[in-house]
Formats: sequence, C-alpha cells, structure tokens
Amino acid sequence: MENQQKVKSLIDLRLEAKMGGGEKRIASQHSKGKYTARERIDMMLDEGSFEELDMFVTHRCYNFGLENEKYLGDGVITGHGTVDGRIVCIFAQDFTVFGGSLSETMALKICKVMDIAMKLGCPVVGINDSGGARIQEGVTSLAGYAEIFERNILASGVIPQISAIFGPCAGGAVYSPALTDFVLMTEDNSYMFVTGPKVVRSVTGEDISIEDLGGADVHAGKSGVSHFKVSNEEEGSMLIRKLLSYLPQNNLEEAPVSDTTDPIDRLDDSLNSIIPDNPNLPYNMKDIIHSIVDHAEFLEVHRHYARNIIVGFARFNGNSVGIIANQPNFLAGVLDCDASRKAARFVRFCDAFNIPILTLVDVPGFLPGSGQEYAGIIIHGAKLMFAYGEATVPKITITIRKSYGGAHDVMSCKQLRGDFNYAWPTAEIAVMGASGAIEVLEGRNINKITDEAEKTSYIAEKVSEYNEKFANPYQAASYGYIDDIIEPRNTRFRIIRAFEALQTKKVVNPMKKHSNIPL
Ligand code: HXC
Repeated sequence: MENQQKVKSLIDLRLEAKMGGGEKRIASQHSKGKYTARERIDMMLDEGSFEELDMFVTHRCYNFGLENEKYLGDGVITGHGTVDGRIVCIFAQDFTVFGGSLSETMALKICKVMDIAMKLGCPVVGINDSGGARIQEGVTSLAGYAEIFERNILASGVIPQISAIFGPCAGGAVYSPALTDFVLMTEDNSYMFVTGPKVVRSVTGEDISIEDLGGADVHAGKSGVSHFKVSNEEEGSMLIRKLLSYLPQNNLEEAPVSDTTDPIDRLDDSLNSIIPDNPNLPYNMKDIIHSIVDHAEFLEVHRHYARNIIVGFARFNGNSVGIIANQPNFLAGVLDCDASRKAARFVRFCDAFNIPILTLVDVPGFLPGSGQEYAGIIIHGAKLMFAYGEATVPKITITIRKSYGGAHDVMSCKQLRGDFNYAWPTAEIAVMGASGAIEVLEGRNINKITDEAEKTSYIAEKVSEYNEKFANPYQAASYGYIDDIIEPRNTRFRIIRAFEALQTKKVVNPMKKHSNIPL
C-alpha cells in the first residue's frame, strides 16, 4: 500500500470507529432522548480538548459468533481532555456497541484511563450507559469489573471520581459508581439496581416498575445512592463541570481559587432578624447560606435526600468550602440515620481533598424512637462524629440556634477539633430542650400538684428559669467552648477572617494502617 493510501486508510478507520455500533443504533439512541458516548464527552469537556485513546481496540471473544461482529473501540470511549482548562480523564460507555456491555477489553480500556488519572493526579469522570456484563464473555467480564472496582477503591481519596448515569446501570455494574465520590442520574432515562424488576418478581413476588425500583427519584430521594438528579444530559454535564470547579485535582493539591467581586465585609442586616422569636418556628437555613457565601452561589449535594441536613459547596472570598448545615425547615433539623450518613460522607470527602468545612448548627437533637434505634442511629450518628473528629482540614462552626445534647457534640463542637466555634446571640446550647429537661428534673414535684392550672404555671415558671439559664450561648462561651458570640449580620466577614487565619493549620493524625470508622 502506498503511503498516501495508508493515511487514507487511517482516516477511514477513524471514521468507522466514530460510528460506534452504526447509524441505526445511533438513531435508536437519539430516539430515546439520549446522546451517544462521543457526544456526551464533547458536552462534558472544553471544546476540542478531547484526546481519544484506544480507538482501535476490539473485543477478543469467540463465543456465540461474536468473532464476526467487531466494532473499533469496542463499547467504551476513553481519553482525556480539559474542564475549564484543567485536565480530566474520562470514559463513556457506548450503548450502540453491544448495549455498552462490559467486555474484557472494555475493562482494560477503562482501567488504563484510570491508571493515567492516578499517574497525572487528575479527576476521572465515568459516563455509564450499559447492559452490564457482556453475556457472551462470561467470567472475563466479571474479572474486568473487579479490576475496575479495585482501581476505584485505590483511587478513593486520591483523585476525585465522578459517575454520570445516563442510561441503564444494572447488576454488579452499579458498584463502580457506588465506589466513586459523586453519582449523578438523569430523570426518565437512567436507572440503577442490583437486580432488575423481572428477577425481583420471580424471587420475591414483588411487582415493581423499573423507575420505582431504581430510577433517579428513588436514588436521589430514598436510597441516597445518587447525589444529584438532573432533568437531562445537558444539565448533568454542566453540573459535573461546576462540581469540578470546587475540587482540587487530587489530594495533594488545594481547590482552585476564583476571582470574586463579592466584598469580604459585606453585611446583611436581615440576618439579625431571621431567627423567629418562637424557638419552635422554622426558618430556611438556605437563606442564611445564600446570604453569607460569595455571590449567593451554593452547589447543593444530595438535595433530595435527608433534607433535614444540608451539604454542599460554596466559596468564601473565592476559596472553596464544604458546608454542612441543619435545616430547621425539614423535620426541625433533627439528626436521624440518613442525615448522619449523608453528612458524614460529605465531611470525609472534604477532608480527603483539603476542602475546609463550615458547619451551621441548629439541631434539636437526635430523632428519638424505636424506628431510629432499630435502624442503628447509634452507629450512624457515630459515623458523623468520627468523620468530624478525624478531619484535619480547617473547621469553623457557627451555632445559629439550637445545639442540644449528643447532637451538639456531633456537629463539629470545639472538643471534636472545631477550630473556631462561634455562636449567634440566638444560640441555645444545652444538654436538652427546656420541656424535656423540666420533665426529668421536676417530674416528682409536678406530679404532686393536683390543680391543672397550678401545674401548668409551675411548669411554665421552671421552663422559663431553665431557658434563662441555658437557652443562650453565654454559658458555653464562659467555658471557652464558644470562641465568640457574633452579630449575625457580620457572619460572612467573621468566617472569611477565620478561614484566612486557618490557612496554615497543620494537624496530623496518629500513624495507623487506617481508622475503623463505624460503617
Ligand atoms: C451483551 C447486550 C447486553 C449484555 C444488551 N446487549 N445487554 N449484549 N451483553 N449484557 C445488547 C442487545 O443484545 C442489543 O444488541 C443491544 O445491546 C441493545 O439492547 P436492547 O435490549 O435492544 O436495548 P433496550 O431495549 O434499550 O434494553 C436495554 C437493557 C437490556 C435493559 C439494558 O438490553 C437488558 O436487559 N440487557 C441485559 C441486562 C443484564 O441482565 N445484564 C447482565 C447483568 S449481570 P443489538 O445487536 O440488538 O443491538 C452483571 C454482572 C456484573 O452485569 C457483575 C459485576 C460484579
């Protein structure tokens, strides 16, 4: 073959590879409202930045006539590119090739790109759209999955790993996304489950639709498997790009600092009156978050799951910060199993990737009752405490209103390595709320009173006495457990000052193989 012919042949092969499973299957993909793997990568990365690897890899299977059906690149597109100019490794399963099902060579391609990400110290984004293990390949496909899982595990806490679910993700295939830091699902087109509806029906008799079993609503709202739910792939890609902007490239780097025009000493007078006089009335903690962060921009993680606690990323003076905040607007901001797990996972992510943590506290306590006890609130609460207590990143805690009992300790108190613990004058820091405390302390006296009116007035008097003494931040401040009581409208400035001071913080945990967090 002449040299010019060789070049032409290369160009033809590249064109062939770019057609994946062929025009008909691409059309079918589009007809389902889904993009192809290459279109998805183009959407995710900076324009023209994608460098593809392993375009000429094909499968090596000789079962079921597969030797006669080969597609260049097999069922996954891999490579690297940039997001806002920063390098990212990426893979996108190609549903047009054997339904994106995982072959031995596909696994090798994914592992290669993950290894490169580890070498370069850059994030990996995986786009999942696959029928699971390639059935014709048998155990080599299972082994391929396990190779990927092992890499997910070793990369955890070293480079950020993000999974987009833009189609089916079933069987053991769900475990790679589950091992990554963030999972994002599209409404309507994506689903995740260990066993599909048909198997569920035959094994347990339960009749359930694919959406009700493993759709985005289920995983974003009920199971917490998915951190983000988006209405379409465009929104998903933009969200992942945004998420990456808050993260460092790896665990040895700091998150990028953005230019900001939001003044560090911006006061917000409305904060001085945001807390209702009646301590039983709710308010929206997100109003406080939006008021204090740069340009009111807050990227909420796990928005639909355990809404009694809020977690997400924002910036203070251009610096990335992870925020954890109780939400009095939902279940009074109580800590339950789900909220504890959600916040613990977020604290550990921030700590692994050098992202300072701001905790805003308004928590009436742990949710009481057999339901929570049977579900293991002790262990789940301990997870959050462990995560805070182990974290070495700068930590600022602002007690906005309630901070009662065990929940006070768990929510980044001074003794669990809170660096600067401030309180608003509206804070109530105590062992428990007034009515519970009076019932315990005064139960015998109250029972002796037979006249109902007299009883009510006695209780009211004791409650008011208790509130006077404990429903404030001054007792905690007198012990130095609270470093300062701050004017609410000045919160942003005090936070920025405190994080500035903490820039050189160094705390090292004792040497060990790893800790044994109560999982
Ligand atoms: C080989 C597969 C495949 C698979 C789909 N295809 N899944 N090929 N292995 N696992 C092929 C189909 O034959 C078809 O080929 C093309 O992909 C598109 O599939 P359709 O069924 O036409 O698409 P759709 O109607 O959209 O349905 C998608 C689907 C369905 C729901 C994902 O394909 C499906 O149920 N697949 C099997 C899922 C499964 O049970 N996987 C194994 C799970 S066990 P043509 O040539 O017609 O285009 C597992 C273990 C992993 O994954 C363990 C790891 C630890």
